[in-house]
Amino acid sequence: MMNAAAAPILALRRIVTRFGDNVVHDGLNLCVERGEVVSLVGGSGTGKTTLLRHIIGLTRPAAGEVELFGEPLFSGSLAAQRARRRRFGVLFQQGALFSAFTVGENIAFALRETRRVRDTEVQDLVALKLHMVGLTPEQAHLMPAELSGGMIKRVALARALALEPELLLLDEPTAGLDPARSAEFVALIQQLHRALGLTVILVTHDLDTLAALSSKIAVLAERKVISYAGLQETLQLDHPFIHHFFGGEAGRRAFAHLNPETEPA
Ligand SMILES: Nc1ncnc2c1ncn2[C@@H]1O[C@H](COP(=O)(O)OP(=O)(O)O)[C@@H](O)[C@H]1O
Ligand SMILES: [Mg+2]
Repeated sequence: MMNAAAAPILALRRIVTRFGDNVVHDGLNLCVERGEVVSLVGGSGTGKTTLLRHIIGLTRPAAGEVELFGEPLFSGSLAAQRARRRRFGVLFQQGALFSAFTVGENIAFALRETRRVRDTEVQDLVALKLHMVGLTPEQAHLMPAELSGGMIKRVALARALALEPELLLLDEPTAGLDPARSAEFVALIQQLHRALGLTVILVTHDLDTLAALSSKIAVLAERKVISYAGLQETLQLDHPFIHHFFGGEAGRRAFAHLNPETEPA
């Protein structure tokens, strides 16, 4: 009998993804242990978002296996699959919030959809989730259109945390935020990671976010994960994507403290 607790929280094995003639993933492997904060990086169109969609079962790869929490993604009864879905939270680029619902209703939606909870309990849980992301109970009454970009991300994060997930998936969580809001959001993720013992997998193009958060970096290139390692080791990779991604001015600034041989600009 397999021990699900000791198994990696996520295993992708020999994943193949095709859209018509466009082969996006071809024999891709990745194993993520519990508690890691994994940054998934790769050029535009390399299939980062598609990979997240495979992990949560929104799309199925043409071949290969996705194992989540030690079990094949589509194994077990429908009830078992639904229960598995409650164990992860997602914050995707598009479709962050329902625009016709208040902040509170957006967060409550996830709670009501999957659990029988009393209205008073929902209000308490909404307030608690808002508190976790640094917002007040009064802000539950705002409409998404009244929120700044940073606040929308926080509310979307509160919603992703509604069901107390073990795994949090974030697709470019700091894209579109100014550097100060971006740094705040990163600090928030860090704090939640520590407090809740979450495993986090995020897609990011932002070097500051990557440097601050990642325990591991998965590099997507050539239709595979070509490297899965810490930041220091990733920086040593001799690959055109790595040179392009980390080699620019912003990269040298963000990583100057890690690489003593690089002269500061
Ligand atoms: N539903 C779809 N139909 C056809 N092609 C798709 C679909 N979703 C993604 N693709 C293609 O798959 C590739 C990877 O897309 P995506 O995962 O969004 O990349 P990334 O997030 O790394 O920028 C792109 O070439 C994209 O055009
Ligand atoms: Mg994407």
